[in-house]
Amino acid sequence: MLNAYLRENLAERVRESAGFLKSKGIESPDVAVILGSGLNDYADRIENPIVLSYDDIPNMQAGAVSDHRGKLIYGTYLGKKVLLMAGRFHYYESGDMDKAAFPARVLVALGTKRFIITNAAGCINKNWEMGNLMLIKDHINLSGNNPLIGPNLDEYGPRFPDMTYTYNPELREKLMKRADEEGIKLYEGVYAMFTGPSFETPAEINFGRTIGADAAGMSTVPEAIIANHAGCEIIGITFLSNMAAGVLDQPLSGAEVTEAATHIQDIFAKVADMAIEI
Ligand code: HPA
Repeated sequence: MLNAYLRENLAERVRESAGFLKSKGIESPDVAVILGSGLNDYADRIENPIVLSYDDIPNMQAGAVSDHRGKLIYGTYLGKKVLLMAGRFHYYESGDMDKAAFPARVLVALGTKRFIITNAAGCINKNWEMGNLMLIKDHINLSGNNPLIGPNLDEYGPRFPDMTYTYNPELREKLMKRADEEGIKLYEGVYAMFTGPSFETPAEINFGRTIGADAAGMSTVPEAIIANHAGCEIIGITFLSNMAAGVLDQPLSGAEVTEAATHIQDIFAKVADMAIEI
């Protein structure tokens, strides 16, 4: 019963946060973009935005990762109503999936049609070059958890949601074609979510490769599961900031991940723009 109580409370908290955002003029975004590590500068593109700090939104808490600003930015961009989230709550910050998935639930409750979920990740695929972008075609949830565990919130979606077309196949095809036409290198592959916050071991990365993963990261899956549950379109964009552990004979660092992202800003923005436009 306690769990049922908490879930009821979750539905209420989601409604309260969404209601607050609606009262600020944010309603039914065409697209929500969740920005990954080092990719937050994209938010500066929105002109005349409504900017809200997570701290000011009921039930939201600021992200704990230093480069994450914890801001929600809303405005018109490329002719669409676009909501950007600069900073996310990673699962590793609390070990609580409800917390990691909460912002995505609020976006769903606002009536968001399309989610563009972005992240930085380690490149597992040995045939690829780091520093490029990967369109997510599927994911492997290695977190050992799922944000839909607990009583189902029927108002958003079914108890057993299908995950076959989570990363919208038509949109992927369009995006790969557009990137090719514009001469942008875009891989397409499978994202594996590890919990972090420690980076993976080389053996874990070998395991990831064996089971079909191309990239290893610590986010995205909670939001994708929630958005898919509610029937939203999803595009996932990964920045391959480094070769994953053990691929090169050298250690990994968080600073390296954010540093690498500075070089991809323009190309990332082009691909994100395309993902909004298509
Ligand atoms: N592993 C997990 N998450 C990451 C990595 C990585 O190598 N790089 C950036 N985020």
